[in-house]
Amino acid sequence: MAVERTLSIIKPDATRRNLTGKINAKFEDGGLRIVAQKRVQLSQAQAEQFYGVHRERPFFNDLVSFMISGPVVLQVLEGENAIARNREIMGATNPANAAEGTIRKEFAESIEANSVHGSDAPETAAQEIAFFFAGIELVG
Ligand code: CMP
Repeated sequence: MAVERTLSIIKPDATRRNLTGKINAKFEDGGLRIVAQKRVQLSQAQAEQFYGVHRERPFFNDLVSFMISGPVVLQVLEGENAIARNREIMGATNPANAAEGTIRKEFAESIEANSVHGSDAPETAAQEIAFFFAGIELVG
């Protein structure tokens, strides 16, 4: 297994409910290190560009509105097999399908307000990290 980095976003439903610390504990207890972190308010243009791959999906406009409805916490997580490991820690996209003990099972409100985003593959992880962070901000 290789040490990887993945992009994580703690979404507005979770920042609104003051869950950043509880979610970070799930990452750290799960063996990942938070090597970069910043709390920001995304603009509509940033959210549309970040989720551009979903532009044709029926949920795109609602997703963008949701992602700019409050602050998010952008993070880079590092560890062995970090991309897959983070997806395990998050649980399934739809909280109705998420396993016990996962972030989405415990905290997500709906398939849209699902508390966290995580990169799905090495190429997207590299793109998503570069979208939000400069190299100097990543401190392993
Ligand atoms: P995320 O991992 O951030 O990637 C795309 C997001 O779209 C997803 O999490 C959900 O928050 C949101 N979404 C809303 N509706 C759906 C849907 N029907 N299928 C997949 N993702 C959805």
